[in-house]
Amino acid sequence: MTSDEIRETFLSYFEARGHKRLASGSLVPASYDPSVLLTTAGMHPLKPYFQGIETPPHNRLTSCQKCFRTPDIENVGVTARHLTFFEMLGNFSLGDYFKAGAAEFAWELSLEGFGFSPDDLWVTVFEGDEELGLGPDEEAIAAWEALGVPRERIVLCPRSENFWQAGPTGPCGPCSELYLDRGLQWGTEDDLPGGENERFLEYWNLVFMQYDQSETGVLTPLPSQNIDTGLGLNRMAVIQQGVDTVFDTDQFRPLMELGESLRGGSGRLSDEETTRALRILADHTRGMTFLIADGVVPSNEERGYVLRRLMRRAIAQGRHLGFDQGFLPQYVDAVTETMGAAYPELTAEREAILRWVTSEEESFGRTLEHGLAMLEDVLARGEVTGEEAFQLHDTYGFPIDLTEEIAAERGVPLVRAGFDAARAGQRERSAAAAGGGGRVGA
Ligand code: ALA
Repeated sequence: MTSDEIRETFLSYFEARGHKRLASGSLVPASYDPSVLLTTAGMHPLKPYFQGIETPPHNRLTSCQKCFRTPDIENVGVTARHLTFFEMLGNFSLGDYFKAGAAEFAWELSLEGFGFSPDDLWVTVFEGDEELGLGPDEEAIAAWEALGVPRERIVLCPRSENFWQAGPTGPCGPCSELYLDRGLQWGTEDDLPGGENERFLEYWNLVFMQYDQSETGVLTPLPSQNIDTGLGLNRMAVIQQGVDTVFDTDQFRPLMELGESLRGGSGRLSDEETTRALRILADHTRGMTFLIADGVVPSNEERGYVLRRLMRRAIAQGRHLGFDQGFLPQYVDAVTETMGAAYPELTAEREAILRWVTSEEESFGRTLEHGLAMLEDVLARGEVTGEEAFQLHDTYGFPIDLTEEIAAERGVPLVRAGFDAARAGQRERSAAAAGGGGRVGA
């Protein structure tokens, strides 16, 4: 199954069962939703429906939503599955079917659409939480049992795993996740879904969205009981295409191949470093292309800084691999070729995307050269002090995470606390000089 086929299988399954198909919302959340900088889940654009603030176009919806998550940015390229930009498939019920209905759909599509054997599927359910005043999710357990899932393959998990919320406040609820057992060649007899292991791969999260969380943590029932589900398209592609990492799936192969050809077989770095750098480039160039297509521009604040950080990390990796200047536009073209049919905004905004990546690559390229020369001198002394890292940041616009990464790659220690202290000191000085208010962001 290609990624396009996975997307279509999911959406047409739910469409045939009374769900209205919605186009993906923007990566930039609507102005009334200050809870997130960027859209991180399929339900974000639908929040006003869940909260009962707006009337949905239908009580059953389905979408493939563009999502962007930054907390794990450091893991991109290091692990098999972390991405910043990804697509989330979802089906949503606004006061229509609830736990049993959601479980039935997920089970049927898993077996008939995605070809899984029922013997390989496990589920997790919420075990309850004293602080929240909730007991184990008996209704979800009963729903899975009614579908023939043996009790021993229904695993109870705590709030940290099986209670989902869209942000610190807002719609939330217990959830139930579907896992594929990939067999003992991926782990041991003792592994369980929900634990840190490679044997059980989570592929679908069903959220029973029934509460609204206030700023003080109090749960109030929502106007109706809802369903919000999320199935990671890229993760399903790993499974369906029988590959080990997302970077080996059809959406990423053209980007990995482009990187290989730009590298031209030059052997400056170890294989491991090369793979990591190529993966970071593939992920980050997808992310930047989609962010700019949705109107984000590089800056030193908020989502503009997320974009800038992504661009700079990608540029640094390209330089590290020995690419000639002008590689980002080539990646943008490869992303557009791979994803443009599903996301026409990539073609519509092509000129703007190319303009931004070209100018950032030029300006940051110059910065990098100066910064790298200084960093080399520092590294040669065997330690990077916080003050030095701060000077690189302040004078050359050299991001701390980049300094940290390069230092770690060379096995040279960096004193992060010193960086924070130097930055705080500089903020105080500039605030005093400006009569209040330091610079935000970078
Ligand atoms: N909103 C849920 C998630 O992102 C489905 O996992």
